[in-house]
Amino acid sequence: MSRQGTVDVGHLVAGFGMDGHACVPGLATPEEVAALRPHVAAAARQRNPEPPPLESRDTYGKAFLQSMNVWRLDEAVRSFVWSPRFAAVAAALLEVDGVRLYHDQALFKEPGGGPTPWHQDQVYWPLDTDRTITMWMPLVDVPDEVGSMTFASGSHRQDVATFDISDGSEDAVSALVAERGLQLHTYGALRAGDATFHAGWTLHRAGPNPTSDVREVMTVIWYADGARATAPANRYQEADLRLWLKGTEPGELAAGPRNPLLWPADGA
Ligand code: SIN
Ligand code: NI
Repeated sequence: MSRQGTVDVGHLVAGFGMDGHACVPGLATPEEVAALRPHVAAAARQRNPEPPPLESRDTYGKAFLQSMNVWRLDEAVRSFVWSPRFAAVAAALLEVDGVRLYHDQALFKEPGGGPTPWHQDQVYWPLDTDRTITMWMPLVDVPDEVGSMTFASGSHRQDVATFDISDGSEDAVSALVAERGLQLHTYGALRAGDATFHAGWTLHRAGPNPTSDVREVMTVIWYADGARATAPANRYQEADLRLWLKGTEPGELAAGPRNPLLWPADGA
């Protein structure tokens, strides 16, 4: 760590630009994660109080319980999600001067939960920049049998016909990965507090959860400061514009009250 408390990820920047993914071991300490975990779990329960039985859900629903913008429910989560330490890593990997929060989400893959089909996150986002990034941080140790995500290296630089998260995206992207000979990479088992980062257009998937423990993961998404909202290209983007860019109209700078500038931090 540097004098200002930022984590030096200079050695990861070129690889991130090339591959569209990177891993930062030990980004949060075990103590930080242990303190945060019950807050995320309580907020996730508040967002999903009575989830329907796994067997009754579609493929997307079986992949995880998704709880969004949990920072708005809990001060401890807010302070974690708004942490300049994480935002600084995002800005460094994106090679931009500043980043704003898009949103957070807790992704809890339950025991018996299914795979997360191949997809690109940015299909869902009405933003005019490709400088977008997601941090994926387990709050519990993730064993080999569950694993972290698998990325198609360099796919963020390819022209990919995009799909939403479904059986269709799994099949179509599997075929595309084989056809183009894309290299797959996973960082495998991770410790609580390790984090992977991926670009908004990087193709990725995750395996199922055959264990009896919940795979508790917290994610945070940022975009380059200066990005503008675009006219929604699909129904998901319409919903995202209303929710995560609330107060911002297409064409305007995406700088609304839910999208604080998190790096540079005050006084950094
Ligand atoms: C997962 O946690 O299984 C997938 C996360 C993502 O798609 O970004
Ligand atoms: Ni994703």
